[in-house]
Amino acid sequence: MKKQILSLIVILLCLSNGTAQTQITNGSLLAPTPPMGWMTWNYFADAINEKDIREMADAIVSTGMLKAGYDHVFIDDGWQGGRDKRNTIIADPMKFPSGIKALADYVHSKGLKLGIYSDAAPLTCAGYTASLNFEDQDAKTFASWGIDYLKYDYCGAPDDTEIAKTRYKKMADALRKSGRDIALGICEWGDHKPWLWGQQVGGQLWRTTADLRDKWKSLKTVKTAKELHSVGAGIIDIVDFSQDYAAYAKPGYWNDMDMLVVGLYGKKGPSGDLGGVGCTDTEYQSQMSLWSIMNSPLAATNDVRTMNAETKRILLNEEVIAINQDALGKQAVCKIKNELWSVFVRPLANGDFAIAILNRSEIAQNSKIDFAELGFNSTYEIKDLWQHKVIGKGKKWNGKVLPHETKLFRLKKI
Ligand code: GLA
Repeated sequence: MKKQILSLIVILLCLSNGTAQTQITNGSLLAPTPPMGWMTWNYFADAINEKDIREMADAIVSTGMLKAGYDHVFIDDGWQGGRDKRNTIIADPMKFPSGIKALADYVHSKGLKLGIYSDAAPLTCAGYTASLNFEDQDAKTFASWGIDYLKYDYCGAPDDTEIAKTRYKKMADALRKSGRDIALGICEWGDHKPWLWGQQVGGQLWRTTADLRDKWKSLKTVKTAKELHSVGAGIIDIVDFSQDYAAYAKPGYWNDMDMLVVGLYGKKGPSGDLGGVGCTDTEYQSQMSLWSIMNSPLAATNDVRTMNAETKRILLNEEVIAINQDALGKQAVCKIKNELWSVFVRPLANGDFAIAILNRSEIAQNSKIDFAELGFNSTYEIKDLWQHKVIGKGKKWNGKVLPHETKLFRLKKI
């Protein structure tokens, strides 16, 4: 009898444990893998409207981007039209005559989610109405519109870590109480080390640096990430400053290295400021490789309606995206860094490894990688994820890497 009671207790404990676990998983992991989608800012700045956004949503579906995983349309700054008599935030009626709810219904009908933008101060970075002191009301409004994601900026807010934590927590709490699952992207550019507190205050991801411009490297070498605000960050600057925070990323919580500039080719707009003259396709391919191995959210910002074959090839490489979306959620660590090379490695859920080999220099270089030096002591089948083919088997790889090119390999133990 005693035995039977004991087994019953064990069964009940197991059951209740199982239920609790499911609730925690369902309740807290709003972004189990890095969010993917298309964001309005780099291409349109604040000159956005519902027609262009609908067309972009259509193109995300027709080009295969949704199928590849880009399942969000993120509206950035410039949608706001002030507040009504009840202080409810409203969309600019000229830009969004049908309202945001209708737009959310439209993108949802296509199988996409809708993100929106606000700021932890009275006004946003571009000077529009923001959410400070209206957190609960705005979160409820966003929920009633069917919003799935909020990017919450920090322009006009005090340069103080405790205040940043308090303001982000206030919005995160408001979102939790809003009646809808809305993921929170913290955007204070890494100025107050959000990798240390982003999860604790209720965020799912946090920007690690100042805005990325459409360029490879800042013209001036900077010592601190904060200096990137004034000189303008390039792809390699963001990689260098974000690599130290690998330990803070895990399923549900991500270092956000800012939007993809792939396919913008120096189009004037915010990413064209501060020396953003555009990149080569080799450099855009490197961004996609590095953002993927480093687990960053993937928010494309090019004109999806007219993208060329190269941009499509880069954005839609499903083997590269699979590295970014890998269920283990381990951000790559930088194993080698010198004037010529950055080499990143990460383990993958099925036991494979991903390796990225970036030639930082201005001329083609021959790389000799001994996998044992990276901590991999077996023999591997090496798949080049840009060539989509197995390029060798063994314990080493030798080959040529073009200037600013990143080789991205998947290693399978044999
Ligand atoms: C800040 C953010 C950008 C963008 C703009 C909008 O600069 O870092 O990503 O959202 O504001 O004004």
